[in-house]
Amino acid sequence: MKHLLATDGLDPALATAVLDTADELKHTLLGREVKKLPTLRGRTVITLFYENSTRTRVSFEIAGKWMSADVINVSASSSSVNKGESLRDTALTLAAAGADCVIVRHPASGAAQRLAGWLAEPGTSVVNAGDGTHEHPTQALLDAATLRERLGSLKDRRIAIVGDVLHSRVARSNLHLLSALGAEVVLVAPPTLLPYGVESLPVTVSHDLDAELPAVDAVMMLRVQAERMHGGFFPSAREYSIAYGLSERRQKLLPDHAVVLHPGPMLRGMEIASAVADSPASAITEQVRNGVHVRMAVLYHLLASEGAAA
Ligand code: CP
Repeated sequence: MKHLLATDGLDPALATAVLDTADELKHTLLGREVKKLPTLRGRTVITLFYENSTRTRVSFEIAGKWMSADVINVSASSSSVNKGESLRDTALTLAAAGADCVIVRHPASGAAQRLAGWLAEPGTSVVNAGDGTHEHPTQALLDAATLRERLGSLKDRRIAIVGDVLHSRVARSNLHLLSALGAEVVLVAPPTLLPYGVESLPVTVSHDLDAELPAVDAVMMLRVQAERMHGGFFPSAREYSIAYGLSERRQKLLPDHAVVLHPGPMLRGMEIASAVADSPASAITEQVRNGVHVRMAVLYHLLASEGAAA
């Protein structure tokens, strides 16, 4: 694997190999006081973030450090981007400085793909850490890792992705990955928060959360992305919460084994009730924990495995 830009088109065998590596890394490191492995000693990983992040940036930094890579964090707000430097010049500068891998988050859909094109000549790997409303592939991989831990195989599992699908790169990456791994995905959202062309995606669509919950193995609540709703929020926050929030009443409709996910950051009380987010069915903290091992596995497959240059 040379880059990780999207789950749309990602070979399911490669995705499974990354998940298996993450699982192996997790069990290798479990209970160890010192978590460092020497695998990426001498390699340089740079995170380049044009949007805010807590989970993705921190877990990539920890992942790189636990693999003994040198990790450098560049945020647009404190770099020469603030003086008007373009994404292309910024990326070429990081490659010239010695980056083996650039992990990029950017508000424009397609930015990671562009970066991979510009960095083909220096041979620097690119990971998409979220590009606009397009994709967030490592989030989908960590979600799949968490679901595999709780449910076993994803084959024929029914997974509801609920809420602001229109603006969600998490939803897009998940629906492609989960369906490639054999799961059935149902998108549950108001008509105003579904993307144009949803019929062509490998999903079914519902607007009735109460009707879907009794038949799912997992429910993935989405963040409402107010920062991308330039034309205003419709339905209103209150209407949204009533129709699509995962309340305690709604949680009772789920089968006992069903898993509750949320990529974070959560709007407690609107997208999900605190009592649900903190309940035993919730895997939200495990998602964050698995994010480190999944990102270690991604760096391994990009920079250290036999197929790294493929
Ligand atoms: N889930 C996710 O991408 O969270 P951050 O924005 O905190 O990285």
